[in-house]
Amino acid sequence: MPDSRPRVVVTRKLPEQVEARMQELFDVTLNHDDRPMSAAELGEAMAHADVLVPTLGDHLDAGLMARAGANLRLIANFGAGVDHIDVETARQRGIHVTNTPGVLAEDTADMTMALILAVPRRLVDGVKLIESGEWGGWAPTAMLGHRIFGKRLGIIGMGRIGQAVAKRAAAFGLEIHYHNRKRVHGSVEEDLGATYWESLDQMLARMDVVSIHCPHTPGTYHLLSSRRLRLMKPSAYIVNTARGEIVDENALIRMLEAGELGGAALDVFEHGHEINPRLAALPNVTLMPHMGSATVESRLEMGEKVIINIKTFADGHTPPDRVVPAML
Ligand code: DGY
Repeated sequence: MPDSRPRVVVTRKLPEQVEARMQELFDVTLNHDDRPMSAAELGEAMAHADVLVPTLGDHLDAGLMARAGANLRLIANFGAGVDHIDVETARQRGIHVTNTPGVLAEDTADMTMALILAVPRRLVDGVKLIESGEWGGWAPTAMLGHRIFGKRLGIIGMGRIGQAVAKRAAAFGLEIHYHNRKRVHGSVEEDLGATYWESLDQMLARMDVVSIHCPHTPGTYHLLSSRRLRLMKPSAYIVNTARGEIVDENALIRMLEAGELGGAALDVFEHGHEINPRLAALPNVTLMPHMGSATVESRLEMGEKVIINIKTFADGHTPPDRVVPAML
């Protein structure tokens, strides 16, 4: 009997339980050795699959969309961000796009909080000193950083992750400020004790720490441009667990090198995993390999979301996590 289950191609290795469930439900092709697929391989998968499960790093641009076969009706992204997918072209070709929002907010907020602490309190410097074997013991003027209690945190993007960061940061005694395309509901502002700034420029000029939580879209590319970075206090820190492209990385590096900013803690970079060596050489930065949502729990829940999106779609309904260009 022919297999009537949807043909699903998954571009990267997923947690075992997620792959096992997919094998039960779908006619699935998995990527056991986890080697990123080339553009040609992605094009081939799109030509033959009913559903593609890509993830960040798979650049599904208009050229690749043009190779999609008539059967490809759903791109069920494993991940919340969809800036690697040309969602508008997908829509024009009648291909639905879904993502995995919500389930990674708490973990990403935890990592953000760790990074808010990391540079001012010199966590990595401390670890390195111990590892060097050169620590001479406690001294009144040794390893001094800066207090974060009572400082002003400016959150750019007050969605699920921004709000989860605000809750944590308020508990650490930071004053919460935010800029968002739309002001959040008054009750949310009240719960978080958050002050809204319609003008990003004005907010930036007054913050001690700025943390980025908006998606990367054409409208947020280099949102923190050289001009805006220059508005910040020379003692301020930047934390980015969203997308590297939102910050003009070269401008940031120039300012850090010149001592015009207090420091930066980055989980994401403008050019993916290619880290600018000048950035890595700076003393007042902490760099992480895009680990914001890297917990077993989050990956399993992301997998569940992908499965529910595919199953709902295959059953003829609108998948719960549909991304439409107007949302971006
Ligand atoms: C996402 O899902 O887009 C996140 O960046 C992964 O951490």
